[in-house]
This record gives sequence, structure tokens and C-alpha cells, in this order.
Amino acid sequence: MPPRNHKNWLKVPKIEHISSECYNNHSIYEQEIEHIFAKVWVPMCHFSEMSNDGDYRSTQIAHQNVVAVNIKGNVKVFLCPSIDRPAGNGLDTAGLKELHSEVKHGGMVWTTLDPNPTQSVEEWTCGAFDCIADAIDAEDMEVFHYHKAVIDTNYKLWHDTNSEFYHDFMHYFNRVSGFNDEYFARKNIPFDNGHVNVSSFTVNYEEYDGFEDRGELSFPNLPPNQWYMVDLFPGFNFNLRGSAYRSDTVTPLGPNKVLIEFRGYGLKKDTPEERQTRIKHHNSIWGPFGRNLHEDLIGVAGQGTTMREGTEARNILHGRHENSTIHDEVGMRHYYEAWGKFLGVSPANPLGLATDDVIAAE
Ligand SMILES: [Fe+2]
Repeated sequence: MPPRNHKNWLKVPKIEHISSECYNNHSIYEQEIEHIFAKVWVPMCHFSEMSNDGDYRSTQIAHQNVVAVNIKGNVKVFLCPSIDRPAGNGLDTAGLKELHSEVKHGGMVWTTLDPNPTQSVEEWTCGAFDCIADAIDAEDMEVFHYHKAVIDTNYKLWHDTNSEFYHDFMHYFNRVSGFNDEYFARKNIPFDNGHVNVSSFTVNYEEYDGFEDRGELSFPNLPPNQWYMVDLFPGFNFNLRGSAYRSDTVTPLGPNKVLIEFRGYGLKKDTPEERQTRIKHHNSIWGPFGRNLHEDLIGVAGQGTTMREGTEARNILHGRHENSTIHDEVGMRHYYEAWGKFLGVSPANPLGLATDDVIAAE
């Protein structure tokens, strides 16, 4: 095998791959805003955050301010050029342009900037939520935790970290409590529109020092201590870890900057004691006092650093084939196939460089 010198390093790999230009090129970022984020359904917030008549909650989608308003129990979403506070009560919506919206999949408020969406939310998510529908739709949920962070990385690197699971070796907690036969056998399941979910397995919480079994407070219709994950294109993650539910939503701020909003959910009917236990469970893994979230963020910030705009393009390999089990990169391949279709580019050569500029494989 020849040495991996610079010339060899730049050769086109013989397996599936994408270019790092997908992550750091400013024109690609602008195309993503226009052709992806301004078109798709976005889960902007949760109904429990605006459950009283007149409550509103805002966010930004594709550089546009949008606001969801509770109008006598019905949610309406509007474009809102200026807004004083991110959330509150009593917003005057007169003259604001209404957007399409739905409340779906566990009480999430969905909207799209597309004035003529060709698909409903149900059609857009096309089955990706089926695996957890009985658990998240059986009872009303309530947000008990919210925080946001601006991370110096590309939003897709954050989504990737929820799609590939070999980075799990980085998580001490997961190595101790999760690496069992069921873990390695679980499957990545692709759905249309670039979505993927990861089937369940049993987490052995008690293996981790100081933790205890979480089966007692598992969500309705969910076997004890199971863990399901839904990765929704282009960057939304829904994560049911037995006793607590979590969602992550991304708002890209640049090729190498992303705002991530993290929410933790319990059941509205929780007793105060049950709620405290769920909060503790959530926080001790994914909240600000856990370690998994920070380990993930350190990982993706490091990836972002190595791919900053202006760095030499390199190939990101997606060639692991392991019968769609947990470390198979089928989820990444599926996502980037959809991503390329939205932008009309090849993820392996997103800038459409002339073939003379690409060093061919031997
Ligand atoms: Fe992780």
C-alpha cells in the first residue's frame, strides 16, 4: 500500500463519500437556507410552551422571524418582521402574514415558509415517528427544560452526530450502560425525505455508578428503559430515552455556526415527585449537568474546527456497510442523498468542480 502522502490523500475514494465543502462553503450554506430551510416543515416549539390563550413564542427560520400564537386554543403561525421578546402574551397579529402550521407528533408546533406546501406534516415525516407515536401521543407532554447554545460548527455535523453511533465510544456513560448485544444489533431505518430512525434497545442504567433503573417512569406504551431516536431531515432530532423525551432543533447561522435549541419533556399529568425524577434523569445525561451533551458538543465543535472555511477540502467517508446495524453509515448516506437532491448537487463534489480539478482514483 502506498504511503498516505498529500497526493494520495486527495484522491477520490473508491467507497461512498462526501466532500467537506458541504460543511464549510458559504455559497452552499446560502443555498441550504433558500432551498431547504425555507421549504421544509420546521418543528419550531411545543404547544405546552404557549398553552394559554394569547401566548406566543417566536423563532427564526431561514433568516425570517416567525411567531406561533395561541388563539383561543388554536395555534397560528405568522411572519413577524419585528418582535420585542422571544415569548410572551398578547401579541397584536393584525396585518401579519399567516404561514401554514400544524400541531403534530407529540404536540410540536410545525410551520413552513413555503406558501404552497405539497405535503402535510404527516406526509413530510412519512412514518419516521411511527416507532414512538404510541408513547408521545398517548398523553399530553410538557416542556420542563429549555436551553439554547450557539456552537461553532456546521448544523449537519450536529445532525451527523445523532445519526452515526460509532462516536458513542466517546461517551463514557454509554460505554458502561449501553454496549450490549441489543445495542449493536439495532437498525438504522431510512424513510423518505432523508429521515432516519434508530430502533430501540435496553439501557442498563444501573451499570453506571450512582444511577438506578429507570423503568418505573418509562413513557406510556414503552417497554422499560428503551431508547428510540428519530433523526428528521434536515436537522431535527427526537429522542425518547425511557423516562424523558428530548428534542433538538437547529437554526443555521453560517457555514460554521449553529443555534441549537434543546428541550426536555415529561408528561403533563406527572406528580411533582415524578416530574423531579424525570428532570433528574434528563439532566444527568443530556441537560446542562450531564455529560453526554457536552461530549457531543465538544466532538462536533472539533470537527467544525478542522473544516473551517478556507481549509483544504477532504473526503468524508460514508462507506461502512454492516447490514444497517448501528454503526452502518446507511443513515448518513440516506441523509446526504436527500440533501443533494434538494440542492441539485452531488455531495461528493458540491461545487461542481471540473473533473480536471478532481484527482481521479487509481
Ligand atoms: Fe453522542
